[in-house]
Amino acid sequence: MRQAILLHFFLGVSAYLSCVSLVTAEDPYVYINWVIEYGEAAPLGVDQRVILVNGQFPGPTVNVVTNDNVIVEVENKLDEPMLITWNGVKQRKMSWQDGVLGTNCPIPAKTNWTYRMQMKDQIGTYNYFLSTLMHRAAGGYGGLNILARSIIPVPYPKPFEEITVLVSDWWKKDHKELQAILDAGKPFPLPDGMLINGKQSTVFDVVPGQTYLFRVSNIGISTSINFRIQGHTMHLVECEGSHTEQEAYESLDLHVGQSSSLLVTINGGNPRDYFMVASTRFTKPILTTTATLHSQGSTRPASTHLPIAPTYHIHWSMKQARTIRWNLTANAARPNPQGSYHYGTIPVVRTVILENSATKIDGKTRYAVNKISYKNPETPLKLADYFNIPDVFTVGSIQDSPPAGPAELGTSVLGTALHDFVEIVFQNTESTVQSWHLDGNDFWTVGFGSGRWNTTLRRRFYNLHDSPTRHTVQVYPYSWSAILVSLDNKGMWNLRSANWARRYLGQELYVRVWNDEKSPYTETDIPPNALLCGLAKP
Ligand SMILES: *[C@@H]1O[C@H](CO)[C@@H](O)[C@H](O)[C@H]1NC(C)=O
Ligand SMILES: *[C@@H]1O[C@H](CO)[C@@H](O)[C@H](O)[C@H]1NC(C)=O
Ligand SMILES: *[C@@H]1O[C@H](CO)[C@@H](O)[C@H](O)[C@H]1NC(C)=O
Repeated sequence: MRQAILLHFFLGVSAYLSCVSLVTAEDPYVYINWVIEYGEAAPLGVDQRVILVNGQFPGPTVNVVTNDNVIVEVENKLDEPMLITWNGVKQRKMSWQDGVLGTNCPIPAKTNWTYRMQMKDQIGTYNYFLSTLMHRAAGGYGGLNILARSIIPVPYPKPFEEITVLVSDWWKKDHKELQAILDAGKPFPLPDGMLINGKQSTVFDVVPGQTYLFRVSNIGISTSINFRIQGHTMHLVECEGSHTEQEAYESLDLHVGQSSSLLVTINGGNPRDYFMVASTRFTKPILTTTATLHSQGSTRPASTHLPIAPTYHIHWSMKQARTIRWNLTANAARPNPQGSYHYGTIPVVRTVILENSATKIDGKTRYAVNKISYKNPETPLKLADYFNIPDVFTVGSIQDSPPAGPAELGTSVLGTALHDFVEIVFQNTESTVQSWHLDGNDFWTVGFGSGRWNTTLRRRFYNLHDSPTRHTVQVYPYSWSAILVSLDNKGMWNLRSANWARRYLGQELYVRVWNDEKSPYTETDIPPNALLCGLAKP
């Protein structure tokens, strides 16, 4: 087993500027070396193939600080090409590092590649995972926490300790078997169980009376969860990079791909253990898993009476979603208050309605957005843009609202201009909950509602005052969710279903944020180590 090499040091002047021209010399560097390989684990009691990061499942937690330059050398020891994406890391001016097939050629099997990123202007709880094929179903994921710089105060007392919690749905079949099911056009099976930090029996040691920051991600691939801690109230302090009003919750819904930070003070008095519980939402049957909070000095096991939680209740979840609000006076990565932005007063230049649908193409199930089921071209879109390679994609190949007619395969790219302020409505006409993720830009989740969206619902349901910004939004069955996004990050950005079977079968697109001026102030140049494939191959 290899250990992550984490060096954290300040670089004097410009030694690295020649090879990492995109970063400021004063910001610290973090070096990480990872081996990605297959291993065996038995999270549900059956030995199966999983993907390890440096011998670990889940992979090591990455703890970095705002503005750190993070250099990750990855050795791909799998038998397939792969990429790692950094879920929620905005990759400011650097979509080259985003780790999805629209921006990077996959790292071939048995080779190395180095990501050079900066955690620019961000704080919060995030995660990383393999974005290719169905790799994400086999592990290869971990927590990624961006801590505030010491000079920026956080709007809550310093916790005694931070605990990273990764909740996932899990299958006894490995990623290749799951992929084969999808390739054959068969329905994706329900999960066989739920895991917390890769197990069904994780134990966290805690000290009674102390306050902990739980950094929780739903890192699963298909199932919304409800998260709670027996006998404790949780205060939500952060949600995907936003400091929130510190509302108290008995339990919190987290949809696929979402993350939150929760402050919890462990009960004092006669110490006892408690269960942390995660159960699935909107599924039949409900799957539940627990981890144990073992209190120092406790000889009393956790009670087997688990706290109850909502199961199907969609309205409950929608109401809870509306209670998550931005703390307007708190700072985030910068010292200025989050609320100074006044997003509700900025004119919307365009409304895009994206409707998901299940369809059959050549007799097999596919998923589509506005009637296009995405197919990855051999040449990453980003390289096609850079080298002006024609016939890879067409800007505007997806319409701004769902057209009539049957779905077809295509390479959908929504064209937008740098700094456009756009309203996107996700319209869900299916019976399952959707989870949508945008790379490169976070967005205000301004509205959730039932039925079909229309413009008059803006007045009734939008929060134009204190919605949090986040990177992943849920859309309830037969409902809509609306976001506002300021497209200030030039690049080619993946907008995808976080439900991996749906994404694998086409429920994604790219948003091209563009201006014609080529300048390092708006976007960094192609990295010297960029892999070239498809039509970009020399
Ligand atoms: C990949 O990196 C590892 C560790 O630095 C090194 O031992 C190995 O030779 C490299 N492999 C290739 C194909 O360059
Ligand atoms: C909001 O942030 C301010 C400034 O950091 C802090 O003093 C206050 O307690 C926070 N309010 C809530 C409700 O979390
Ligand atoms: C908009 O939707 C609401 C709620 O479904 C409905 O009551 C209203 O009539 C609709 N308005 C228009 C203009 O379609």
